[in-house]
Amino acid sequence: MVKNFFETIESRRSVRKFKSDSISDEMLQKIIAAGCLAPSAGNVQPWKFYIIRQQENKELLARAAGQSFVAQAPVVVVVVAEPEEAAAKYGDRGRELYSIQDTAAAAENILLSACALGLGGCWVGAFSEEAVSRILNLSPAQRPVVIIPIGYPQYTPRTRNLKPQEEVVLFFD
Ligand SMILES: Cc1cc2nc3c(=O)[nH]c(=O)nc-3n(C[C@H](O)[C@H](O)[C@H](O)COP(=O)(O)O)c2cc1C
Repeated sequence: MVKNFFETIESRRSVRKFKSDSISDEMLQKIIAAGCLAPSAGNVQPWKFYIIRQQENKELLARAAGQSFVAQAPVVVVVVAEPEEAAAKYGDRGRELYSIQDTAAAAENILLSACALGLGGCWVGAFSEEAVSRILNLSPAQRPVVIIPIGYPQYTPRTRNLKPQEEVVLFFD
């Protein structure tokens, strides 16, 4: 069963423990397609999605992040930016800002669609870019932005504290 939109947004949490069950190719395809549907500046789509399923490679990524749970997920997606593609159209702003915003939007689409399908994932941003680039054999022009382990959640995450809206929402009428 697929969750509806607001159910998905409200129930999405970072999941850091996964069951060993694998994810169907159909689900994975849907999740990646959602990443490809994200908005990007000028529709440049300056991204690549690396899908890692081999245990050995997942363990290398987990080590590059110093976060062992990454290797426990059946699938790990690494969202990689192509900053020069954005720079070709938008110069420095494309290279430094848009390519990161675009890949971040894609990463969120991936996390939300995984959640909608009853899966869990986590945005892993703390890792050695150099190590991940080496593992995935990236070119010097590419930049790994997010590592996303995805699988069936082994637990229900505790509720987390959100800042009150009065603190973060400003009506500048
Ligand atoms: C830019 C960014 C980097 C993050 N890096 C990590 C990380 O390296 N490891 C991790 O376990 N969670 C990481 N997270 C997940 C956050 O800790 C998590 O989203 C936050 O605590 C809110 O919890 P929730 O996702 O369950 O709502 C990251 C999230 C973002 C947006």
